[in-house]
Amino acid sequence: MAVAELTMMDKMVSLCKRRGFIFQSSEIYGGLAATWDYGPLGAELKRNLKEAWWRSNVYERDDIEGLDAAIMMRPEVWMASGHVASFEDTLVDCKGCRKRFKAEAVHGKKCPECGSELTEARQFNLMLKTHLGPIEDEGSLTYLRPETAQGIFVNFLNVQTAMRRKIPFGIAQMGKSFRNEVTTKSFTFRSREFEQMEIEFFVKPGADEEWYHKWVEERFNWYVKLGIKKENLRKREHERSELAHYAKACTDIEYQFPFGWSELEGIANRTDFDLRQHARLSGKPIEYFDEEAKDRFIPYVIEPSGGIDRSILAFLFDAYKEEEVKGEKRVSLVLNKSLAPMKVAVLPLLRNRPEIVELAKNITSGLKRHFKAMYDDTASIGRLYRRQDEVGTPYCVTVDVESLSDKKVTVRDRDTMQQERISVSKVEEYLVNKLK
Ligand code: GAP
Repeated sequence: MAVAELTMMDKMVSLCKRRGFIFQSSEIYGGLAATWDYGPLGAELKRNLKEAWWRSNVYERDDIEGLDAAIMMRPEVWMASGHVASFEDTLVDCKGCRKRFKAEAVHGKKCPECGSELTEARQFNLMLKTHLGPIEDEGSLTYLRPETAQGIFVNFLNVQTAMRRKIPFGIAQMGKSFRNEVTTKSFTFRSREFEQMEIEFFVKPGADEEWYHKWVEERFNWYVKLGIKKENLRKREHERSELAHYAKACTDIEYQFPFGWSELEGIANRTDFDLRQHARLSGKPIEYFDEEAKDRFIPYVIEPSGGIDRSILAFLFDAYKEEEVKGEKRVSLVLNKSLAPMKVAVLPLLRNRPEIVELAKNITSGLKRHFKAMYDDTASIGRLYRRQDEVGTPYCVTVDVESLSDKKVTVRDRDTMQQERISVSKVEEYLVNKLK
């Protein structure tokens, strides 16, 4: 990794901690590897990203229903899906320092860290296990889901019949997934607890290839529309040898992170593998009956499966901007307004003038009815602007002495730094329109 790349990653980790986006989990105890806590601004950003995904898929399309299935499922689900048998990494252990490595990442028979001898390679299942109920034995064993997808597959008929859906249609779900990952570098990129946003889109066999290509385009454009620079995104079709056990084809949407091009989302053609497997293991037929064609079949599935944490990381890197303004370094996050965690900050120019403070607080209360807004008087105006720029707040409203006589405030735009005087009576409507 080049020094400049390392620096960018360090800057982002530091900004995320300093400004309340992302903290190491259990930090005061030394941290828990590959698990992360979203702070006040990170939690807002995450909510906004999820809202954008849900809106564009579940609300704006006519052919997708939402779902929120349980994280814990019967172990048979993971036998049917193939995860118990083949959701594995091949690993080697160091006999000296006891570190564990993916076999593919080690060249030769010596530990890359301490030079000691390595064990033979062995298979290691990535699913996290737990026990339900008071007795910890084979019968109480269950798994924390490694993908949200299976909750959708086992509910295919429930959703289809409850909502009287005709194929093609999809089911969308977001939520936590868990994997006992071995390589856990690169900040939140590969976490052990993370969130996915997944769609299983059910189609007639034969229509799968057309839908697969449509979904690759659709998902690529979603990231661009939300602000990721096109030149930092690419599509990469999987080689046959890379395909997951369930997939006939897969295209990754990759982002150019400081540590290299890496997967944000995979769009896979899962064929009828999962529905067929669940029908076989549960003994319950899972079929769709096409009334018009009087045809009964097991649908094929196209799956756009994205990572919420990875997307957040990509949006943060993509938005990060450093420039020189009037001889000073200015850092801003040029986030799409819909994603920005704080929409407006109201700043009084003089915090020791009660009339100014009162007016600023009143404006803040009005704005809070529409979106996340805050009042801040804890520093000089220049410093307050810099703080808001650094977390991507699209607008700052400044209340000054003149505001008391001309009943106007200054609205400053994050990206252009242009300032406009707007009537106090109009400022709420003005900002609501700007942030639509
Ligand atoms: N249902 C298909 C599936 O789970 P995947 O490629 O293993 O496919 C889908 O995961 C997406 O989930 C990835 O593109 C990535 O964005 C996210 N993801 C997977 N493992 C992750 C991890 N350990 N940490 C963060 N995100 C992860």
